[in-house]
Amino acid sequence: MSAITIAVDGPAASGKSTVGHRLAEALDYLYFDTGVMYRAVAWAALESGIPIEDEEQVTALAQRLDIDIEPPQEDDGRQYTVLADDVDITWEIREPAVNRAVSPVSAYGGVREALVAQQREIGAEGAVVMVGRDIGTVVLPDADLKVYLDASLEERARRRHREAKQRGATSTLEEEIVAIRRRDEIDSSREVAPLAQADDAFYLDTTDLDIDEVVQRILEALPAGARDVDDGCC
Ligand code: DC
Repeated sequence: MSAITIAVDGPAASGKSTVGHRLAEALDYLYFDTGVMYRAVAWAALESGIPIEDEEQVTALAQRLDIDIEPPQEDDGRQYTVLADDVDITWEIREPAVNRAVSPVSAYGGVREALVAQQREIGAEGAVVMVGRDIGTVVLPDADLKVYLDASLEERARRRHREAKQRGATSTLEEEIVAIRRRDEIDSSREVAPLAQADDAFYLDTTDLDIDEVVQRILEALPAGARDVDDGCC
């Protein structure tokens, strides 16, 4: 099988992370969730008391922060370990405070420039499933396969609610709906690299599909030559 690059984009809770991770496993590719980098910058800003609305300081932070994404080192349900300046922040970056701060942080052009440069370096290696909002449009416009995952707002909020409950968080479904709607608005309307579907992306509405079905459909959409995959099929 020839190694290819796969870009997976879509709104919050559209299934990108779970599907991207499964896809990478099936292909034995690197799984790279770019949202983690924006979350790490948002977490570090909160941690060091930098006001989220201070674009200059947040940008300088993104330029100097050392973000490492490594294979999971603990068996606690994580897909990877995230280190910021050598501190394990894998779960901290999923806290509500980071959820609130990350959309404005990711709207800053200088932050994106710093992080996209690192993402492209990883993409250049090939054999990667890269997940985000602008992978097919900006980060890897020449990706061999671009997938755009979508789902209704209600279904996405239900998914987030379920995940939050599993982690012991107490948010209500209504709060998740409000939070996701707000993030959709910011992610889609920002000036720099807004969430958008690439013209040549394979669009998949996952509202009524389970993970296996989504993964299977993407495997079927792989370009010829990259299809020699052990997906347990046939
Ligand atoms: O996928 P996520 O929820 O972890 O993403 C966190 C935030 O980062 C979200 O507000 C969108 C933003 N993001 C982005 O702007 N570009 C990416 N490539 C990935 C995430």
